[in-house]
Amino acid sequence: MPHTASIKLDGKDFPLPVIEGTEGEKAVDIRKLRTETGFISYDQGYGNTGSCESSITYLDGDNGVLRHRGIPIEQLAMNSDFVETAYLTIYGDLPNAAKRKEFGMKLRQHAAVETQMQKIFEGFPKDAPPMAMLSSIVASLAAHYPQLATNSFEKDLVNFDLAAAIAISKVRTIGAMIYRYKKGLPYVFPKQELPFCDNFLHMMFSEPYGEYVAEPEVARALNLLLLLHTDHEQNCSTSTVRMVGSSAANVFTSISAGICALSGWLHGGANVAVMQMLQAIHDEGDDGTRFIAAAKSGVKESRLMGFGHAVYRNFDPRAKIIGKASEDVLRKLGINDPLLAIAKKLEEAALKDDYFLSRKLYPNVDFYSGIIMRALGIPTSMFTVVFAIGRTPGWIANWHEVALNPKGRIYRPRQIYVGPVKRDYVPMAERP
Ligand code: CMC
Repeated sequence: MPHTASIKLDGKDFPLPVIEGTEGEKAVDIRKLRTETGFISYDQGYGNTGSCESSITYLDGDNGVLRHRGIPIEQLAMNSDFVETAYLTIYGDLPNAAKRKEFGMKLRQHAAVETQMQKIFEGFPKDAPPMAMLSSIVASLAAHYPQLATNSFEKDLVNFDLAAAIAISKVRTIGAMIYRYKKGLPYVFPKQELPFCDNFLHMMFSEPYGEYVAEPEVARALNLLLLLHTDHEQNCSTSTVRMVGSSAANVFTSISAGICALSGWLHGGANVAVMQMLQAIHDEGDDGTRFIAAAKSGVKESRLMGFGHAVYRNFDPRAKIIGKASEDVLRKLGINDPLLAIAKKLEEAALKDDYFLSRKLYPNVDFYSGIIMRALGIPTSMFTVVFAIGRTPGWIANWHEVALNPKGRIYRPRQIYVGPVKRDYVPMAERP
């Protein structure tokens, strides 16, 4: 039976259309609510608001389900790699061999950062936060490739494939260069013959006097990590990308805005905060009890980092994969990281605690991702940059969907104004 909906306002009934997604998600369509009734809906934080229709990622937070273009994340993690999943996310289907090769080739060709662009780095202090550098330098791509970033959907869509390849490939190179710059090390140029993740590790860790060759396990672990971050539906940074893109802003500018949104500790910055928390537990010789007790205080800043999620009310499927992968990676690399044991103990203790159980707070993707990055030699300060490299294809796919939508409107939520009512301007001499 088709669903029906109506809203009763001051005794009068207003019928409202119902929309149903391909996986049975239902929404009450309130697009005409204000015009017809004078009321708007109020949904601080948009937790109950569908801001778009999208065919990229399906997420069922109650049941811990995540699929990209219909394919479960578990299958992608098992069988795919980051570049293939990026293609799937952006173009809607798994590539055949020829398309996969062509896409990979484009990424290889556009890995290098031009000399002029390298100069931007020099303007930053050495202790600049990596995410602040990343967002600024990625924004500058619009200045370096103005022909791909015209702020006209029509023109920018013609060059979309090239812009997408530049963005994915260069966000990675810029990430590696930020690391080198901050350490005062010379930049390492990308190598065309290297696959995506190996090339990132080469640009991070090779030296003029010594080549870094990634162990297959290391490149595989990075691949998995990036793949698991590829897209995640309408999260804070992706919604930001869509919002900026909805004004017809080009893909580079929109991604840069996404990077800014990702940097906060409630979102991508959590992977840094988790590591700091685990390190603090280690240094204090605590068993985590203090952090769990503090997290239950209700103070936002004391939350258990890497726990909870805005939409998952069950295990984050990415956390399950990453939790297992972090043990495997450490074993394969012969690393005994005391922080892994601390993380596992903390998880066990939290999942026995009624505070976390009753609120359905489980480990999220950030809880174990840092353990893997640490094992690969990536410093904590760079963790969110790696997250951004992984999320770039998802941002691009979402920008593309916005740009392609002929019925798209500029994102422009309303508000309930609660400030002073109309009052008169008071000249300076008469002010108290
Ligand atoms: N530790 C302790 N209490 C928590 C936590 C936590 N990590 N997360 C949520 N709560 C509490 C929250 O205070 C609220 O309590 P009460 O009902 O007593 O007011 C209750 O649990 C429900 O919170 P919620 O509505 O599920 O949380 P939210 O949607 O406002 O926030 C979140 C989601 C991810 C920001 C939050 O869980 C959090 O701050 N987690 C720690 C930071 C973190 O790990 N962020 C990474 C998210 S996953 C990757 C990404 O998106 O970047």
